[in-house]
Amino acid sequence: MARILITSAIPYINGIKHLGNLVGSQLPADLFARFMRARGHEVMFICATDEHGTPAELAAAKAGKKVEDYCTEMHETQKNLAADFRWSFDHFGRSSSQRNHRLTQHFARKLAENGLIKEVVEKQIFSIDENRFLPDRYLTGTCPNCGNTSARGDQCEECTKQLDPTDLINPRSSISGSHNLELRETKHLFLRQRSLSKKLEAWIDSKTDWPILTTSIAKKWLNDGDGLQDRGITRDLYWGIPVKKGDQPWPGMEGKVFYVWFDAPIEYIASTAEWADANGKPDADWERWWRTDKGASDVTYYQFMGKDNVPFHTLSFPATILGSGEPWKLVDYLKSFNYLNYDGGQFSTSKGRGIFMDQALSILPADYWRWWLLSHAPESSDSEFTWENFQNSINKDLADVLGNLVSRVTKFATSKLGTTIPAGGTFGPQEAAFIDNLRARIREYETLMEQMEIRKAAAELRAIWVIGNEYLQSAAPWTVVKTDPEQAQAQIRLALNLIRVYAILSQPFIPDASAAMMAAMGSTNWSWPSDISADMHALPTGSTFSVPENLFRKITDEERIEWQTRFSGTRT
Ligand code: MF3
Ligand code: ZN
Repeated sequence: MARILITSAIPYINGIKHLGNLVGSQLPADLFARFMRARGHEVMFICATDEHGTPAELAAAKAGKKVEDYCTEMHETQKNLAADFRWSFDHFGRSSSQRNHRLTQHFARKLAENGLIKEVVEKQIFSIDENRFLPDRYLTGTCPNCGNTSARGDQCEECTKQLDPTDLINPRSSISGSHNLELRETKHLFLRQRSLSKKLEAWIDSKTDWPILTTSIAKKWLNDGDGLQDRGITRDLYWGIPVKKGDQPWPGMEGKVFYVWFDAPIEYIASTAEWADANGKPDADWERWWRTDKGASDVTYYQFMGKDNVPFHTLSFPATILGSGEPWKLVDYLKSFNYLNYDGGQFSTSKGRGIFMDQALSILPADYWRWWLLSHAPESSDSEFTWENFQNSINKDLADVLGNLVSRVTKFATSKLGTTIPAGGTFGPQEAAFIDNLRARIREYETLMEQMEIRKAAAELRAIWVIGNEYLQSAAPWTVVKTDPEQAQAQIRLALNLIRVYAILSQPFIPDASAAMMAAMGSTNWSWPSDISADMHALPTGSTFSVPENLFRKITDEERIEWQTRFSGTRT
C-alpha cells in the first residue's frame, strides 16, 4: 500500500466555477483520488477556497457584502457544489484560516532568515479620491498590447498578456472609475527567486517523467529573456494575511498583507492541518503527509491544475519550500491541462459565459458532466464543449453502451430466470475468451489511470463496456434460454458479475451510477478486480439482485436545442 497525497488547484472564492475551471483541477484530481483509494492505497486529497487578493475584495464589493462575510458564504456554496459533483476531498479548507495565517507567516520568517527576502521601495498607483493604493485588478485601463480598453492591472483578458498596473494606458480605479491617480512610494517584500533558479532548474530537470506541457512552461520562465525574476510577495490591501515574521511584527510593513499567490499554495499544507483540527487529530497526523522528517518521505505527491497555474507550482511555490531550508514535501508529479472552450468561444467568469456548476446540476446529474468532461479532458491540446458532442457522448457511451447492458441483462434475467443470481451451467470457451479479453483490458485501464492518461483511460473503460455488449450479443442468452436454460443461466451469471466489476471500474468516473449498479447486484464488495476469473463468480449464487431504475437517460434534440439557447447568453 502506497501513500498518495493529492492536491487540486484551489478555486478562487469570487463566484461559482464554470466547467472549464473544473476540468483541469478538481475533477481529474478527484478521478485520481478515487482510483487510488479503490486500489487500496492510503490517500489524502486536499482542496480549499482561494480567498485573498483583489478578486475576493472586488466580488464582495459588487455583492454589497463585507469581504469576510462574502468569503464565508461563498465557501459554503462552493463546498456544497463540490459535494454535489461528488468530489471526494478529505478536506476542503479555506486559505483565510488561522492555520494558513500562521504557516504563511512562518514561511516568510524562514525565507527572511535565509536571506531570501529583499525590501524594495517602489512606485505604485495611488488613488487620491479613495485614499488607497490600487494593486492588480483594482486598476482598469487600456492594454498596451492589444488596445482592449477594459484590461485589468494584472492581466488583459482579451490577449492574456500578464500586466503590471503601471503598464496600463489611461488607467482608472476599478471601483470608482476615478482618474485622479498618482504614483506614490511604498515598500514591498520581494522573494529572491532568482538566486534559487539554478536549484529550481536542477529539480525540474530531474522530473523526466513530467508532461511536456508542465516542463516546457517552467523552462520558459526560467530561460526566457532575463530569466526568473524576483517576485513581489506583499500588497497594499486590507484583506489578506498580515505581513509578519512568524508571530513577530515586520517593521515598516504594517498594514500590508501577503500577495494572494504567496499564501494560496501554502494553503495546501494548511488545509491538511485544518483536516487534522476538524477531526481532532494531533499535528503528527498531518505532518506525516508534508514533513519528510516526520514520515512524508514515503509519500508520493501529485498536483492537478490548468496551464495558467503551472509557473506558480513549478517555480514560485517550490522556491518558497526550498528557500525555507526545512524538510517540506515537494511535488512529485504535476499534471497540467490545456483549456476547455465553450461553444465557439472561451468560458469566462467575468463575462458570465459558459455553463456554471449550479446550472449544470440543475439540468443533469453529476455523472453525466463528469463523464463528458473527463472523457474530453484537454490534455494534449485545448478542447471544446459543444452541445451536439455532449448529447452524442451521453446518449452513446452512457445510455446505449453501459446503461443498455445493465438494463437488458437485469430485465431479461428477472423475467426469464428469476431475481437471484442463477446457479446453473458452467462457463465454456466463449466465456473463457471473454474473460481473457477483459483481463487484458482491465490491466491496460489500470496502467492508463496510473499514468493519468485521462482521455485514454476513459476510452479504455468505454471499450470494456463495449466488449460486454459484444459478448452478450454473440452469447444471446435470450435465444439460448429456449434450448439450453442451464447455459443461459451461466451466461447471465457472468453478465451480472460483470455489472459488479463495471461498478468498481467505473466508480472514479461515474460514482452515483456505480453505486446504483453495485446496489442492484445486492453487493457491497468493492474490492478491485485482481483475479478476473474469480471476479466472475464473486456474487453468491442464490443472492438477490434487482433492476436499477433509470441508470441513464438520453438527451433529446429538443432539450439540446433548449439548453444551447438558454446557456448562450451571459450569466449575471
Ligand atoms: N485560485 C487559483 C486559480 O483558480 C489557483 C490557486 S492554486 C494555489 O487559478 F496554488 F494557489 F493553491
Ligand atoms: Zn490585451
